[in-house]
Amino acid sequence: DKQLLQQRLELYDINREAARFFYLNLKKKGNNAKEYLKERGISQEVMKSFGLGYAPHSWDDLLKYLKKAGYKEDRILLSGLIVPKKEKKEYYDRFRNRIIFPIFDARGNVIAFGGRVMDNSLPKYLNSPETPVFNKSDTLYALNIARKNITDNRMILVEGYMDVIALHQYGFKNCVATLGTSLTKGHAIKLKKYCNEVIICFDGDEAGEKATLRSLEIFKEVDLNSRVLIIPDELDPDDYLRENGSKVFKEQIDSAISLIDYKIILAKRKHNLTEAEGKIKFIKELAKIMRDISSPVEREVYINKIQKETGINEDTIFLEIYGRQRKKG
Ligand code: GTP
Ligand code: MN
Ligand code: MN
Ligand code: MN
Ligand code: MN
Repeated sequence: DKQLLQQRLELYDINREAARFFYLNLKKKGNNAKEYLKERGISQEVMKSFGLGYAPHSWDDLLKYLKKAGYKEDRILLSGLIVPKKEKKEYYDRFRNRIIFPIFDARGNVIAFGGRVMDNSLPKYLNSPETPVFNKSDTLYALNIARKNITDNRMILVEGYMDVIALHQYGFKNCVATLGTSLTKGHAIKLKKYCNEVIICFDGDEAGEKATLRSLEIFKEVDLNSRVLIIPDELDPDDYLRENGSKVFKEQIDSAISLIDYKIILAKRKHNLTEAEGKIKFIKELAKIMRDISSPVEREVYINKIQKETGINEDTIFLEIYGRQRKKG
């Protein structure tokens, strides 16, 4: 109703005011936030496009600033930007001495913040809590920018803030990230409104691999095409791009692979294909996904690939997977 709408609008205002505060603090001398971002290769221009900021090393500078701007404590509390002290009567700033990443909704309202430490202390990242304007499980970082920069009807999905920012700086502005949570159906449905295909480009570690498999299933569920760009050597897209540049990355996007090719690659890593047992396990592992393929041509292509990997006759592979003879001719 009207009161709730009013509340939401005030939260957008508070968040925008806070974003301004953080942004202004990044420019002030006496902190190494700007140096930190420069050292990580982020240009001035990109800092500005993403509205990056700095939360000062203080207990309540933001609180004071917002109060001075005319906002009441109980409203500021609702934004998640301050936290009550144990005695409950007083509050302190949630984000202190962190690099700040404002999080916008698709329309450009500031709905939340992420904050990163500049050293190795923990937690590395801190996000705003859920609020009336921030629902983490369907928010995509940088969607406000990416939706205006769709290329080839495509979006690129990465894990982290820094990945999105690096891709953007290297010319891939059609990029979004979930906020440290795994992809949900809500995220996928949202993406489907803006593009025909998603390139999943997660970190090259085991967590990234697991998240990739889950995401592929979710995209299949909502019927949105998706392919995988595998980042090698335990790197993440940010590292990879800075090491290899835009041209290589673009080639990798264009040659991103399907769900089945991805599963073939993972199965290949897992099993020793020079041994009989490894070959059997390899084929059995792929059997289930092969059975889901309805296109005969596609099926043929993958059976041929499995034949090449294992050296096992295509008819035999077919028989193992489908439990019947392959039709001839
Ligand atoms: P850098 O280390 O700065 O390059 O960031 P990254 O994005 O590469 O971090 P990482 O791969 O560790 O994590 C990916 C994303 O998960 C981050 O961008 C955050 O959104 C989220 N994340 C990581 N660590 C934490 C954490 O400690 N707390 C929360 N809430 N989120 C985290
Ligand atoms: Mn991590
Ligand atoms: Mn990671
Ligand atoms: Mn990183
Ligand atoms: Mn990472």
